[in-house]
Amino acid sequence: MYMTKLRARWTAKWTLALGFCSAMFAVQMTAAQMPLPAAKPPDGATLFKQQCATCHTSNTSDPVRQGPSLYKIVGRHAGKADGFKYSAGFANADFVWDDTRLDAWLTNPQQVIPGAVMAYRQAKPETRAMIIAYLKELN
Ligand code: HEC
Repeated sequence: MYMTKLRARWTAKWTLALGFCSAMFAVQMTAAQMPLPAAKPPDGATLFKQQCATCHTSNTSDPVRQGPSLYKIVGRHAGKADGFKYSAGFANADFVWDDTRLDAWLTNPQQVIPGAVMAYRQAKPETRAMIIAYLKELN
C-alpha cells in the first residue's frame, strides 16, 4: 500500500517535471521561430569584398589578382594600371572612369569595351551605386 502511494507520488513528480521540460522546449522552439531582426544591409566596402575582391585589390601593395588594382580607379584612365595586361579592346578605350562609365561597366563590361574579359555583371542599380561610392573613397 505504502509502496503504491510512493510510486504514485514519483510518477506525479516525473510527469510534472516532464511537463515543465516540454514547456521549456516549446518556449525555446517559439524563440527559434521568431523572425530575426533584419540584417544590416551590406555597405559598399562589404559589397566590394564579396563581389570584386576575388579579382581586384583596392590598394597597390597586395599582389595583383585576376583583374587590375582598383586603387583610385575613379578619375583614372581606362586600362592604365601599371603592369597589368588588359584584353585587346582596352587599347581603344580612350576615357577616364567616372560614375557613368563605371555604372555601365558593372552592368555589362562587354558593352563598354568589346571583348573585355571581366566575368561580372550587376543588374541592381543600388548595388552598383554602393560599390561605386566605395571606389570613390579609395581616392
Ligand atoms: C571574375 C573576376 C572579376 C570580378 C569578380 C570583377 N572583375 Fe573587374 N576586371 C576583371 C578583369 C580580368 C579585368 C580586366 C578586363 C580586360 O582586360 O578585359 C577587370 C577590369 C575592371 C575595371 C577596369 C580597370 C582599368 O584599369 O581600366 C574596372 C573598373 C573593374 N574591373 C571594376 C570591377 C568592380 C567594381 C568589380 C566588383 C563589383 C569587379 N570589377 C569584379 C575581373 C573581375
